[in-house]
Amino acid sequence: MPLPSSRVHAIPLSGIREMMNLAMTIPDVLRLEIGDPDFMTPAAITQAATDWAQNNRMGYPPNAGIPQLREAIAGKVTSINAIASKAENVNVTIGATGALYLAMLAVLEPGDEILVPDPGWAGYPAMVGLAGAIARPYRLRPENGFQLVASDIEKMLTPSTRAILVNSPSNPTGALNDPQETRALVELAERRGIWIIADECYDQIVFDTTNACVGADLDLESAPVISAFSFSKTYAMTGWRLGYLVASSTLSQHVTRMQAASVASAAMVSQMAGLAALQGPQEPAAEMLSAYRHRRDVATGILDEHGIAYVRPDGALYVFVDIRSSGIDSRDFATGLLRERAVCTTPGIAFGESGDGFIRVSLACSEADLREGLTRFAAFHRQKSV
Ligand SMILES: Cc1ncc(COP(=O)(O)O)c(C=O)c1O
Repeated sequence: MPLPSSRVHAIPLSGIREMMNLAMTIPDVLRLEIGDPDFMTPAAITQAATDWAQNNRMGYPPNAGIPQLREAIAGKVTSINAIASKAENVNVTIGATGALYLAMLAVLEPGDEILVPDPGWAGYPAMVGLAGAIARPYRLRPENGFQLVASDIEKMLTPSTRAILVNSPSNPTGALNDPQETRALVELAERRGIWIIADECYDQIVFDTTNACVGADLDLESAPVISAFSFSKTYAMTGWRLGYLVASSTLSQHVTRMQAASVASAAMVSQMAGLAALQGPQEPAAEMLSAYRHRRDVATGILDEHGIAYVRPDGALYVFVDIRSSGIDSRDFATGLLRERAVCTTPGIAFGESGDGFIRVSLACSEADLREGLTRFAAFHRQKSV
């Protein structure tokens, strides 16, 4: 049989997948590993999509997305994210995953380097590999709550660096970048002629403060910033596979042609759901946000009670728990916790070397599971630390 392309080997096995595979072999496991909201998609969104599907021919949508959704997204991005945009700046994509991959294909030459956060979402190195580029991890440090430091990134630039990926609020740490550091990073990118790909997937999952997106208050047509957003987390719509990419109108046109050539478009029914999400009542999204905030407080309360350190998350759906005092690495800790206490979490090493010494606990599960899971976590931690 002929061999597959080398590209198939450019995608590492995800550490979350490894844990999920192991979890399937253990009965009654508490699932604290996945960032998939446990809520139903709000009823008005599902209803609007169902009504539309029942009454309309399901034809091909335009490659960049239906005009009314691009218009609504431009309005949302302008008012909520302070990125003054028009419909021509928007491509509706298959999740933020689709948006990020298209952004990489649009700016990276094969062999170019892109700096990716470490710890950071495991999807980045995988899609960089698929795009034929090289992912170079930039280290984020627990000492400052894993926030980005522009001067650290400047030291890593080489003549081959073509882009920097930024994710705030962060998966897995929940850290929100300091707006001053973000501004310094944008100035650096402008000075050195480098793109910033901003993963704004959790832009509306922010607990105590306001979120400043990388592209906020910049001129979209001239700034070197491309922003990827998602419906997945804000509206509990992971399965609808809907996101969007916001960029200059010229780059957006290139992205539309790349989307046409690769996947054609996001599904029509999902686009109608997205339109209802943006135009309908926002209370369900606000209620889910308060539930996540409450779970964050429950989780940190239990960890405090047991004297276990963690990074206090300002946003996203995770608590990054510090297990360095246990004396075992994150993979052994997560595997032991799963085998011995039936609690599935994600080892920090799954997000890069700088994530080792930490365990990611997801807030996208019921409060009861979170309480029970963290109580067992604390008992396991105590047993290992003696
Ligand atoms: C940081 C980050 N970026 C992107 C994604 C992908 O999101 P989507 O469901 O919109 O493809 C995720 C999903 O968990 C994520 O955590």
